[in-house]
Amino acid sequence: MNAEADGIGKLFRPRSVAVVGASSDPKKIGSKILHNITDGGFTGAVYPVNPKGGTVGSLPVFPGVAAIPDEVDVAVIAVPARGVMNVVRDCCQAGVRFALIVASGFSEIGRREEEREIAAYARERHLRILGPNMFGMYTAAVSLNATFGPPRIRPGGVAIISQSGALGLSMIGRTALENLGLSTIVSLGNKVDVTEVELLDYLGEDAGTEVILIYLEGVRDGESFLRALRRVGRRKPVVLIKSGRSDRGAAAAASHTGSLAGSDRVFDHLIRQAGALRAESIAEAFDYCRFLSSVPLKPCHNTLIVTNGGGIGVLATDAAEKYGLPLYDDVPVLKATFGPGIPEYGSARNPLDLTGEAGPADYERALTAALTLPDVGAVIALYCETAVFDADALAGIFARCFEAYGKAGRPIVFSTMGGEQTEVAASRLRESRIPVFSDVYAAVRCMGALHRYGSGRRVPAEQTDSPGIPAEAVERIAGGARAGERYFLLADEAAAVLDAAAIPLPGRKVARTAGDAIAAAASVGYPVALKIVSRDVLHKSDVGGVALGIQDEKELIDGYEGVVGNVRRRHPGADILGVEVSAMAVPGLELIVGARRDRTFGPVVMAGLGGVYVEVLRDVVFAAAPLSDREAFAMLQQLRCFPLLLGVRGEDRKDVEALVEVLRKLGEIVAHCESIADIEINPLFVYDEGEGVLAVDARILLSPENTEE
Ligand code: COA
Repeated sequence: MNAEADGIGKLFRPRSVAVVGASSDPKKIGSKILHNITDGGFTGAVYPVNPKGGTVGSLPVFPGVAAIPDEVDVAVIAVPARGVMNVVRDCCQAGVRFALIVASGFSEIGRREEEREIAAYARERHLRILGPNMFGMYTAAVSLNATFGPPRIRPGGVAIISQSGALGLSMIGRTALENLGLSTIVSLGNKVDVTEVELLDYLGEDAGTEVILIYLEGVRDGESFLRALRRVGRRKPVVLIKSGRSDRGAAAAASHTGSLAGSDRVFDHLIRQAGALRAESIAEAFDYCRFLSSVPLKPCHNTLIVTNGGGIGVLATDAAEKYGLPLYDDVPVLKATFGPGIPEYGSARNPLDLTGEAGPADYERALTAALTLPDVGAVIALYCETAVFDADALAGIFARCFEAYGKAGRPIVFSTMGGEQTEVAASRLRESRIPVFSDVYAAVRCMGALHRYGSGRRVPAEQTDSPGIPAEAVERIAGGARAGERYFLLADEAAAVLDAAAIPLPGRKVARTAGDAIAAAASVGYPVALKIVSRDVLHKSDVGGVALGIQDEKELIDGYEGVVGNVRRRHPGADILGVEVSAMAVPGLELIVGARRDRTFGPVVMAGLGGVYVEVLRDVVFAAAPLSDREAFAMLQQLRCFPLLLGVRGEDRKDVEALVEVLRKLGEIVAHCESIADIEINPLFVYDEGEGVLAVDARILLSPENTEE
């Protein structure tokens, strides 16, 4: 356990808790928290604090925390915001380790200064703070329910970290209904001190926690958060719900890459890359938590669907495709194993359709036989209520199979469809933590999530932080531009950066006169492209500063004058340094690739389908940088246009390896060269296997110096 996680451990296993603002009025929040603690079976000492003194129930009330004749590990502060600073002083004086500040009325309503003051005061005196503006916490380790939520919380293996207070509170009630046992639930509130990163690290190590669910509205330090997700995800699944699909990050990004990003889109790709499972809704998140805390955490290759209803089997097959679940398809083995027991109108393929004639014994026999097939990685058992299948037998069959599969280390999920009797059996099973779903899609989605998690976890962690690009050379080029107070690179400087990183680009020269241009074109070879070089022009095409497909000398002279004339007319006063003459690249598969320093998540690489439809199709993916070749490849696999890279309709496979190399290098440039804020190559032509790629146009933006982002 690392020192940080160890430091916070006491929060989850306190020996003594003070409730400041404990009141004899049962309607007050302080009173509810106190009663939840005393009624919830907390194993440590409880100290109510209220200047009025007296007693609450059988407990003596202390006038202040410093008056408590015992060490206090945790103080829950449930007094109005204006009184919090004094209580924090009192806590510091008494040497309290953790304060849960329940009071609202701080930065969430603009009172940042008060909040900062409290945080700074506490930090200096080693008091750790959760909140303010939070609902408290529950920890099963010592049966402490220091929340003002429901009094009864079912203990179990799921930890919930919630940024939202009200939602978090309502989740507590919901967990009880859904048979979800909690190891902890903790509210983040305004996060002045303890953040999700520290909590994640602790819970990742906590033996009582099997799955972690985080509800987030935003992260401040995205890079640390992603690193924590990666660390913790290797040990146990992290399910994440994030609301607040803000576009602020996208608006802030000046380049095309930025405008395509949208911060939620980036977030989505990055957390998946980090191995977390994103859920769209609370229901989906709870399904994942329940399922993942009850089955072996393994990839589900060769999943077999066993059903007594054809239709539901087809639905499950559709869902398997949707959720990327690989199905078992060894038909001869299936026929040999199951064929003899299945009527002609059934199916001994996958889905294995036992038909509506199957009774309990047939059904159990099939599920048991599936367990004996060595190559089957997981089983989805579907049940439709029928007249020949006594639903009373269902619970026993599912329970026996669940146990047998667990012992064999194989995941199994059940889905039932039927009336009251079936539902009664299903809910009995759920109470015993057997994963039974009423919706077949929900069942398959869970298995798909397990497969993703199990497969991702097996991939060995890679070291990606040794720069393979000459960072110094890149910084020198950027330094030259910055010295002239310019925050983008000119075409020839951008080309020099790509050259330094050995990213191939067409032959080119900068010409300062039409005569120079003729010589340059002769040297790079016709047809050529002309692009204006001016420190005042970032978007060259917008001011007519680009001419393409120039075939000969005559066109070249016209083109040169046209480009220079356009820029003079449309951007009077622009300092024109020349015109870049570059060889027209032979078209290949057109991609847009880039890398930038995201405000929240740090270095991020993007790749997408380029060309005229880029805005419409928005087929773009993101990954945190630096990234390994494997991660770059995995990123490409998520593109809808990925089949184009593999070659469709008789086309050859494209040079995916060269593309992967470019992505890796772009990530390295942005990760290791502080001055580079944003690179975009558009288009990047990708040629057939072995023929490489060509960066046809590149735009590079620099980071502003000495500015806080
Ligand atoms: N030390 C100890 N007790 C103190 C105190 C102090 N320094 N200052 C006041 N108290 C006592 C009060 O006298 C009162 O006790 P009483 O009923 O015996 O008089 C008790 O603490 C509570 O104070 P009160 O002024 O009655 O406040 P309240 O209970 O109405 O509200 C909060 C307090 C914190 C609940 C409220 O200010 C608040 O922030 N509510 C929102 C909470 C929330 O939603 N948080 C986000 C989670 S989702």
